[in-house]
Amino acid sequence: MGDWLNSIEDRTATVGVIGLGYVGLPLAVEFARSGYRTIGFDVRADVVEGILAGQSHILDVSSERVRAFVGEGLLTATTDMSRLGECAAIAICVPTPLSKTKDPDLSYVASATRGVLASLRPGQLVILESTTYPGTTRDVLLPVLEEMGLQVGRDFYLCFSPERVDPGNKVWHTKNTPKVIGGVTPECTMAGEALYSRVFDTVVPVESVEAAELVKVYENTFRMINIALVNELAQMCDRLGVDVWGVLEAAATKPFGFMKFTPGPGLGGHCIPLDPHYLTWKMKTLSFKTRMITVADEINAEMPAYVVRKVADALNDSSRSARGSRVLILGIAYKKDVSDVRESPALDIMRQLQEKGVVVTYHDSLCPVIEDDGHTLLSGLPMRSVELTDEVLAESDAVVIIADHTHIDYGRVMNVAKLIVDTRGILREVPGSARVVGLSSSAAERHPARPMAAD
Ligand SMILES: NC(=O)c1ccc[n+]([C@@H]2O[C@H](COP(=O)([O-])OP(=O)(O)OC[C@H]3O[C@@H](n4cnc5c(N)ncnc54)[C@H](O)[C@@H]3O)[C@@H](O)[C@H]2O)c1
Repeated sequence: MGDWLNSIEDRTATVGVIGLGYVGLPLAVEFARSGYRTIGFDVRADVVEGILAGQSHILDVSSERVRAFVGEGLLTATTDMSRLGECAAIAICVPTPLSKTKDPDLSYVASATRGVLASLRPGQLVILESTTYPGTTRDVLLPVLEEMGLQVGRDFYLCFSPERVDPGNKVWHTKNTPKVIGGVTPECTMAGEALYSRVFDTVVPVESVEAAELVKVYENTFRMINIALVNELAQMCDRLGVDVWGVLEAAATKPFGFMKFTPGPGLGGHCIPLDPHYLTWKMKTLSFKTRMITVADEINAEMPAYVVRKVADALNDSSRSARGSRVLILGIAYKKDVSDVRESPALDIMRQLQEKGVVVTYHDSLCPVIEDDGHTLLSGLPMRSVELTDEVLAESDAVVIIADHTHIDYGRVMNVAKLIVDTRGILREVPGSARVVGLSSSAAERHPARPMAAD
């Protein structure tokens, strides 16, 4: 490991990143910022060309920063996988989606691993960053990388290090979020730690590669289950006539033993709705049922239909039928201040409203067009964001807030719209004339005659 370690210490090592998306581009930029000559690899020529022209396609990475590193010769990008041979360390950041039957789709990881094998040479470190089930690195990557007769832990090093990036988070980003890493052998962990301790503020080595893989899926499963719990709380509050936000604020004053999660229109993004299924799939192969995940998944998956019922009921209370009503969806990203609509509950909600005969439009300046609806069967694609004019607000029979983007002038929305279904609780402190319906009925809007018993 001597020469390899020297090249890491004196920054003469070149580092490669395969897959330049939400995870890979910020990581490549961090390597470059730490002084390593970094090569980004992607199968998409447009992504590579953009980076070479100094343009970032990821909201959290500024184009200025990309331009500066490209200009200094610290960052470059290519579609030519044979250049992987130039790299002393390679991070794999390709997608790990689910198939239609919710089974892991490791085809991108397999293809990237084959690319690495083609130029694998003694002394290289390979780190898988893509989220996956425990066992992937050892059972899927290792047999491929050992095909040429090189031995892991002696001739090359193999680790898993989960990417924990939270798009849109202004406090925690790639560099200051502690980085967990586990190797296939102790030598692999040491090699991974040697590189990452020069790039990230804090590195957390764990006992094995499987432990590192499990950390990631457990973290996201923890989040998914707690979101389900708070989504169910919102529905319980609705039946009880209690405002869920008041309950959460009061519960959060407990200084120990409680962590606040907030209800919403359903899960979205590329992580929380998908990752627990990777764990479920793996545990199924070991005849173990992940019951908590199954129940939580059911609750979260029902949230879009719950929101649609809220919209239909709210229209009904205004003596309007859903059919023929005009509904404006405000914010279609899966969460606020991001431009990502993958798995966004907005798409499901829009499709279900369309099925009820609602005329659906949307406004989201971060997501100006919906081209791919992720199989939600939305009609009228491609669909474009409408301008958020007073006219559009006033003409809408209901406005439904799905992503509570910070840049929206909610005061104006409150004053011009007639009826708003606020799935994020963003309007609680905003004065205005609109009637607001939340995920749970507040004491103020509670219907006095509403039966409390289950129907
Ligand atoms: N997006 C997030 O917030 C986030 C957070 C933590 C972990 N992750 C995980 O990180 C991984 C990557 O996710 P992402 O959101 O960055 O995906 P992404 O779709 O934004 O980016 C992936 C990139 O990889 C490229 N690619 C695909 N196959 C390739 C190949 N064989 N060779 C080279 N490039 C290839 C694609 O063209 C794309 O540019 C996934 O496993 C995901 O679960 C994502």
